[in-house]
Amino acid sequence: MSKKNGIIIGLLVAIVAAALIIFFVTQKDANAPNTDQTANQTPTAQTETESTDQAESQTDVLSGTVAMDISNFSYTKPDITVKKGTTVAWTNQDDMQHDVSHDEEKTGAPQGELLSKGESYSFTFDTVGEFGYHCTPHPYMKGKVTVVE
Ligand code: CO
Repeated sequence: MSKKNGIIIGLLVAIVAAALIIFFVTQKDANAPNTDQTANQTPTAQTETESTDQAESQTDVLSGTVAMDISNFSYTKPDITVKKGTTVAWTNQDDMQHDVSHDEEKTGAPQGELLSKGESYSFTFDTVGEFGYHCTPHPYMKGKVTVVE
């Protein structure tokens, strides 16, 4: 009987020990996801900020006809994003002649003649891509039109 009792007590001790081990392991596991969640909250917040920024930039996609002055030796909307099919109309407001000349010769890139004061050049962007341009007499005058679907 004492042997049996000893075995039973031994088993109970083992069960209690096992239960304690399981309890602590489970607690660690329960804490682990919480730690992960906390760690994930920061990236999630950043992602939300990024998507907000994307939403803001999406509202800046221009369409139809975009009028742009060339004034004081600069393109007044030097970096725009337009929907495919958008026409950009540059009007020179300076006494000096300016033009709109593509940086890179490729399909869909604008190329205008020299404009005197009050003259305009219109170009319809039908090709998706980035189109950098400059003024031939003043290469430091730079602009870019990004065309999206
Ligand atoms: Co110029």
